[in-house]
Amino acid sequence: MTALKLLHVVGARPNFPKLAPVHRAAAARGLEQFVLHTGQHYDDSLSAAFFRDLGISEPDVNLAVGSGTHAVQTARIMERIEPVLAEQRPDWVVVYGDVNSTAATSLVAAKLGLPLAHVEAGLRSYDRSMPEEINRMVTDRLADLLLTPSPDADETLRREGEPESEIVFVGNVMIDSLHFALAAARQSGFRSKIGADDCTIVVTLHRPSNVDDPRRLLEIVSALREIAEERPVVFPIHPRTEQRLRDAGACLGRVHVLQPIAYLEMLDLVAGAAAVVTDSGGLQEETTALGVPCLTVRENTERPITVTEGTNRLVPDPRELVAAVRAARRPETWAAPAGWDGRAGERVVDALLARARVVGERSLTQ
Ligand code: UD1
Repeated sequence: MTALKLLHVVGARPNFPKLAPVHRAAAARGLEQFVLHTGQHYDDSLSAAFFRDLGISEPDVNLAVGSGTHAVQTARIMERIEPVLAEQRPDWVVVYGDVNSTAATSLVAAKLGLPLAHVEAGLRSYDRSMPEEINRMVTDRLADLLLTPSPDADETLRREGEPESEIVFVGNVMIDSLHFALAAARQSGFRSKIGADDCTIVVTLHRPSNVDDPRRLLEIVSALREIAEERPVVFPIHPRTEQRLRDAGACLGRVHVLQPIAYLEMLDLVAGAAAVVTDSGGLQEETTALGVPCLTVRENTERPITVTEGTNRLVPDPRELVAAVRAARRPETWAAPAGWDGRAGERVVDALLARARVVGERSLTQ
């Protein structure tokens, strides 16, 4: 059998730590690989810095789609990716997570008849006001191989009628990157450089449901200011959030605001934090793997295992945030969920190879 060719599609910050371990594992098996960056994220701090920190080589092509409304961004990706997929004709198109780049690629790959694998399949918040929920549903419906991070995701896909043969539990690729980079992150000295200590609270916010509604945004800011009167609070700000804070005329008091920071810097901060306040999906998982308390400012989570087996707690009402931070404690002992062990990338490649063989044998007998 000739070596398989994988075409990976990434576009936004959370995709990069998911790509890295799969790319490394596929390279170790001698597979041919092509990395396509849609250009959804283009700032160095949200994109190129992650490639450097994670040791991923430059993308083979960058579609430079940039920002826009959801329809505009999705349409631009579809238009520009179609000729590349048609020309490359990989054995697998591999997409990651729930961003617009993932859903746009899935539609194009499915219509070109290219086998599609979804890494991080089966997550659901059951909240269709989140753009990511729509992206997850569309992608999972179209994918031929559903690679899941946790057993609840397998259950969800079964309930939705996906065939058993397409569902493979591989574990959490994001945690592979955490294992890969943690020592270098701790050595970066970033925490001490910015004066963070064991009492420091790390904050990230960027979801439209939190930052696009000025009233809710100001309620969260008010809680953060109060927390910052008691202990250090560090807040690396996503460009979208920075804009919304400016529009709302928010004043952050003693909160230590930073520009978006690189992967290693963030990992160093989070690993040493007393607690994390966030609405990010990735941070809910990273804190669970690290045993750091996480307070998620959302009504729901598509990652329930971080609550049932991890350190995550949902705090839907910003007025409860101050008390929740005061009460947060690191667990005395903890264990990461099954499959969050640093080997998920290898299991993704195993599944791609095994399933390609099934698809290949089927076409030979037809
Ligand atoms: C996207 C993902 C979200 C992910 C987040 C991580 C979707 C639907 N959302 O949200 O799931 O958690 O990335 O960051 O795909 N901008 C810049 N520089 C950039 C990119 C964006 O300044 O390099 C600004 C622009 O003003 C842009 C805004 O951020 O309009 C939002 O960017 P966009 O890619 O649309 O969504 P995110 O909020 O980043």
